[in-house]
Amino acid sequence: MKRSDFPTSFVWGTATASYQIEGAVAEDGRGESIWDTFSRRPGAIADGQTGDIADDHYHRAAEDVSVMADLGVDAYRFSIAWPRIQANGTGAANHTGLAFYRDLAERLLARGITPWATLYHWDLPQALEERGGWLERDTAYRFAEYSAKVTDALGDVISNWITLNEPWCSSFLGYAAGVHAPGRQEGTVAARAAHHLLLGHGLALPEIRRAVPDANVGISLNLYSIRAASESPADLDAARRIDGLGNRFFLDPVLRGSYPEDVLSDLGEGAWFHDNAAPADLASISAPIDFLGINYYSRHTLRAGAAGTEASAYPGSEFVEFVDTGADKTQMGWEIHPDGLVDVLEMAHSGAPELPLYITENGSAYEDVVGDDGTIDDPGRAEYLRQHVAACLEARQRGLPLGGYFVWSLMDNFEWAWGYSRRFGIVHVDYDTQVRTPKTSARWLTAFLAGNADTSA
Ligand code: FCB
Repeated sequence: MKRSDFPTSFVWGTATASYQIEGAVAEDGRGESIWDTFSRRPGAIADGQTGDIADDHYHRAAEDVSVMADLGVDAYRFSIAWPRIQANGTGAANHTGLAFYRDLAERLLARGITPWATLYHWDLPQALEERGGWLERDTAYRFAEYSAKVTDALGDVISNWITLNEPWCSSFLGYAAGVHAPGRQEGTVAARAAHHLLLGHGLALPEIRRAVPDANVGISLNLYSIRAASESPADLDAARRIDGLGNRFFLDPVLRGSYPEDVLSDLGEGAWFHDNAAPADLASISAPIDFLGINYYSRHTLRAGAAGTEASAYPGSEFVEFVDTGADKTQMGWEIHPDGLVDVLEMAHSGAPELPLYITENGSAYEDVVGDDGTIDDPGRAEYLRQHVAACLEARQRGLPLGGYFVWSLMDNFEWAWGYSRRFGIVHVDYDTQVRTPKTSARWLTAFLAGNADTSA
């Protein structure tokens, strides 16, 4: 396998998100986000840490762009922190916040790296959460207004836009399981947050197109490859439910303009959706996009079991069990299934045959050891990366319209509920000194991008 097996237009990038890397949470007029408050809640974050400093990227963006230039990537996916632009989620844009992202985009462009900006990677202004957060319809309108301000100001330097990152996580991890900000456990009502997130996406689309006539706009969904543990009706139903809530509940409205009725029925939310998710909402949500971003990490194998005692991220389907198939796992406990990447591309492609697809995140956490000589040899992460790049090639050979691949992540960062205890970077970050060091996985990517053949398979 070598880079030239892919078309020259294929986009090779790395990805990050604002709260995970920026730090500087109280500087230059940035307001509080739901992650600032949630990370201070006792017990919410595995290592008790916050994103207050993180990778200090806010002060080190120039260096981080150089790191990427040395890697040889074509593109960088980052996110814009809404509370840097509107401290309380409404009103005039903060010019200092906008200037930070303009400067970043200009530095990237100067090094030949194309910026891909995500408008919402989970840092909702806390003031909006206090007004109900994503359970309130008004938050969708606030998101569209924010998106208009950002794209009006930055559309001349950024043409690739992603509205939302993983609305499943924002809604079901944030409002059902409560393991992500804002940490609420509202059961099936969390599905209403999903609708308001998607509505925000739909309302933002025309604003972005108005502001940036040449915009390339999409949304990033976290899709899972799904298997039933057996052919028994109960296990097949378990798989249907998780595929429904995790994949189809987001794919169907965006690609087809409807919510899957079986999922509304599993949730017991049919009445609310029929009264509140108006046809006009679904028309906005399903307006044409230029690409679908897919974040792929793993496969779920499901069987019918017994309900656990903790608040579930799959409300209404609490009795479904996730089966350990014995496959190798990353440090997250996520099974490694490179062929699942092809599955999720097939799944998206079948719903929208003309739509370009991008893997906007894929990567792995491993426990890294810094050698005596300061190097970080991460053979597990390098192999994960190699196998998933090979799966991208396989997908293209099958004729799937895959246009690019972004590694999660450029560098180690604040991994949400896991804090700094999980490292996803291909570049190591020493949190005491903020020194960045490319790992073996980064060196593999650089050699591959430079045209070297990978012969390890
Ligand atoms: C995804 C998130 C990203 C990162 C990876 C590991 O769900 O979008 O921010 O945390 O998982």
